[in-house]
Amino acid sequence: MAQKICLIPGDGIGPEVAHSAREVISASGAAIEWVELPAGASALETHGAVLPEETIQAIEFHKVALKGPVTTPIGKGFTSVNVGLRKRLNLYAAVRPVRNLPGIQSRYENVDLVVVRENTEGLYSGIENEIVPGVVQSLKIATRLGCERIARYAFQYARLRGRHRVTVFHKANIMKKSDGLFLECARQVHAAEGAGIDYDELIIDNGCMQLVRDPSRFDVVLMENLYGDIVSDLCAGLVGGLGVVPGANIGDTCAVFEAVHGSAPDIAGKNLANPLALIMSGVMMLNHIGETECADRIKTAYNTLLAEKNPDCLTPDIGGRGGTTQFTQA
Ligand code: NAI
Repeated sequence: MAQKICLIPGDGIGPEVAHSAREVISASGAAIEWVELPAGASALETHGAVLPEETIQAIEFHKVALKGPVTTPIGKGFTSVNVGLRKRLNLYAAVRPVRNLPGIQSRYENVDLVVVRENTEGLYSGIENEIVPGVVQSLKIATRLGCERIARYAFQYARLRGRHRVTVFHKANIMKKSDGLFLECARQVHAAEGAGIDYDELIIDNGCMQLVRDPSRFDVVLMENLYGDIVSDLCAGLVGGLGVVPGANIGDTCAVFEAVHGSAPDIAGKNLANPLALIMSGVMMLNHIGETECADRIKTAYNTLLAEKNPDCLTPDIGGRGGTTQFTQA
């Protein structure tokens, strides 16, 4: 019987890459019935809300979604749909595997790391106010529950995937309480549940320097929300850019799979977007629902396509002169 999966096309390049991923996943033979749902700036026009209740309820009901990026206005306007979705569905773990791919040029070799980002707390709590004109504050929230569960997730992920080391990036020298709690929880979880997995800690500024010097020394990298957001894009840059790095937002009951990249308004509607990051997120989704053969089929297809290096079939961000549709068809 076909499994129902929610599909959120989103904004900007979202519909282009979402429909590409849908086409590729369907071609793999996966028994999926898609339930297309609105979210983002486009949903405000059509449904009167950026995150309509029907979208939340459908994901809660069907448990799994594949999501295109959505636009968030800068410095004004509505609050982030992504933050809202992650909080409402308690998708506390963002998982972003970063690897070299065949045929894609980058400055580095042997990159195979996973960013595990706490996805519901930190400065993304969205608690901001103006105390007096000209003085504003943003609150960074860390709870023992939130810090422990993401640390537990990271060690469990490492154990299940045969990974050997968890490194925490932090700034507990400055944010002694919030990042201090994050570290304390990671240490406790490592001591209690991390047998056989190495553990270390780096102050994040040094961590970023080490990442761009030699990313191959990293395995699972665990951090709080804002650091994870920034470091994910940095890591995408290590292996060829935002067009090639997938992601998952995982909770105890639901999971939403989406690329690291945003809605890329600069290239939207021009058939220039690389759909691979969302296709790879779709592969993560297929593995999550047990459709592993279809996942492997898609992986073989894109690895072969990338290795062939036919510029007519690749998007410009990875050195091609083709577009979203050419990549999808190939
Ligand atoms: P962005 O990730 O959309 O774009 C950054 C750069 O990478 C741009 O030059 C863009 O053309 C390029 N790029 C991104 N994805 C690409 C792809 N698949 N193929 C080829 N090139 C690609 O980041 P930006 O410009 O900072 O944000 C644009 C909007 O996206 C903002 O409203 C932001 O809030 C939103 N955003 C949404 C996310 C989500 O829905 N998960 C994640 C990140 C940003």
